[in-house]
Amino acid sequence: SYDLYKDPSQDVEARVQDLLSRMTLAEKVGQMTQIERGVSNNSVVKDLFIGSVLSGGGSVPDAGNTAEAWQDLVDRLQNDALSTRLGIPMIYGIDAVHGHNNVFGATIFPHNVGLGCTRDPDLVKRIGVATALEVRATGIPYVFAPCIATCRDPRWGRCYESYSESTEVVTSLTDIILGLQGEPANKTAGFPFVADSSKVAACAKHFVGDGGTTNGINENNTVIDYKGLVDIHMAPYFDSIAKGVSTVMISYTSWNGMKMHANKFLVTQVLKYNLKFKGFVISDWEGIDRITSPAGANYTFSIESSINAGLDMIMVPNNYPQFINGLTDLVKGGYINMHRIDDAVTRILRVKFAMGLFEKPLADRSYSKHLGSEEHRSLAREAVRKSLVLLKNGKEAGKPLLPLSKTAAKIIVAGSHANDLGRQCGGWTITWQGGNGTTTKGTTILDAIKGAVSPTTQIVYEPYPQPGFAQSQGADFAIVVVGEPPYAETFGDNLNLTIPEAGIPTIQNVCGEVRCLVILVSGRPLVVEPYLPVMDAFVAAWLPGSEGAGVSDVIFGDYDFVGTLARTWFKSVDQLPMNVGDEKYDPLFPFGYGLKMGTPNSSKNC
Ligand code: GLC
Repeated sequence: SYDLYKDPSQDVEARVQDLLSRMTLAEKVGQMTQIERGVSNNSVVKDLFIGSVLSGGGSVPDAGNTAEAWQDLVDRLQNDALSTRLGIPMIYGIDAVHGHNNVFGATIFPHNVGLGCTRDPDLVKRIGVATALEVRATGIPYVFAPCIATCRDPRWGRCYESYSESTEVVTSLTDIILGLQGEPANKTAGFPFVADSSKVAACAKHFVGDGGTTNGINENNTVIDYKGLVDIHMAPYFDSIAKGVSTVMISYTSWNGMKMHANKFLVTQVLKYNLKFKGFVISDWEGIDRITSPAGANYTFSIESSINAGLDMIMVPNNYPQFINGLTDLVKGGYINMHRIDDAVTRILRVKFAMGLFEKPLADRSYSKHLGSEEHRSLAREAVRKSLVLLKNGKEAGKPLLPLSKTAAKIIVAGSHANDLGRQCGGWTITWQGGNGTTTKGTTILDAIKGAVSPTTQIVYEPYPQPGFAQSQGADFAIVVVGEPPYAETFGDNLNLTIPEAGIPTIQNVCGEVRCLVILVSGRPLVVEPYLPVMDAFVAAWLPGSEGAGVSDVIFGDYDFVGTLARTWFKSVDQLPMNVGDEKYDPLFPFGYGLKMGTPNSSKNC
């Protein structure tokens, strides 16, 4: 018999309606259920018609963290899905938030906090193109990116996932969606768009107001009037939807005390009706459980209030029997009507048909070559160069320290972040929280410095220099690289924002004894005012990722600085929140600030 939904020559909406009309309640509920890789080892995808599987941060295949192991994992799950009565393909999702960051050997791009400083939508689009290829290299067609939060308080542990405090900067950089998904030929009118199997479905997150919580407390309450919510936090969604973003993830946060995961006005009335979003809306990880406090206290209410609010797919991710049974009972009991279920399944199927998942459900193993390719590493190196911000260059006018000389006789390289790939990548790298040391492939800042200087230049590396050490070396100058350890989400919430660990003593011990450039590796501005006088030069490097050579390219003058602050650099945390445009605005370095050397390729300065 002829099954219209299987015919790619039919238009998407006809295929959706044909398939929907054939589905049982169990098959519809299955499509709305996203489970974690860790609970997918049995035949649950087949038996319960599961529509989506995800890897949480660090959730890699049992068989290993290689392209092939990923391809085998995704294909096994996909073949389970294809073996069901209607053969609806499952969609595998993962957080590729600065490159394909869970996968060993993938190119790790600068986190968004650094990309915001580039003010370069084309660069960010090219990063999207590269990321899509590396994600497809593992057989995955869907990413939980970009985070388009407007971070209004750097005390938020996820501020580095936000491009900027400025809505305009965030909105301009939603162009990454055009790289990830491809560029729609004409207006999408809110419909999901994925050009072909070299692209991936994207996810604008977290709707809405995730970056505006009180004191930057993660998953907390965003207290603001509707106009402020729209102007500051919702505006980037207008552009994301206009660019055809396929999915939107709901924020853990509340708006004026109302949980976003249960907010029918914002999810259905505003996002789906007013903004005309036609893709699917997905919850965050256990996002519906956290509607109640304590989380999970009333899971039936969690299901009922989130689905009736307009959420379409639920990132359960582990207790799927409770979710499936709960949702089924609520529909059978009339608490959730079938029209709502059909809207959710329509949206999920629309994305799957629009992106060609029915035609190409399995991994294309020819893409393996893109994982961590030299071309992508070169792009990441360019992004690092353009993300750096020069905040101080010389203690006296006319006596800049940068550009540094490549032919200096002796250079001290000091600090906890000089030779640590994991630290320069930050959170969401190989594991959820990220880690120290050589966690993947890449170039540390120290490696890069060694590669940049002349053969006769002696490099003395000392991660934790004691008083007297720097002076004893008789070096021309020192490069001090310090900053924050890796963190993600709530683990990054921080009310004091001081340079942690040995950073401050390292700055004082080295810069007090020899001319120094301090490079700060951090997810946000930190308290530096007290230490600025002792520094000869100061550069914000943010979280540059795997390609540390982007740093040496600039500090030794092969390229000039182009980065400018996308976040206000405060003097003290007592001033926070403090954002560009505020009445009271007394920053150490204002939004938009950034110096140039003006004389790249000259070694006259030292
Ligand atoms: C996390 C984050 C979200 C991520 C999801 C899946 O808790 O809030 O940004 O996409 O869970 O890892």
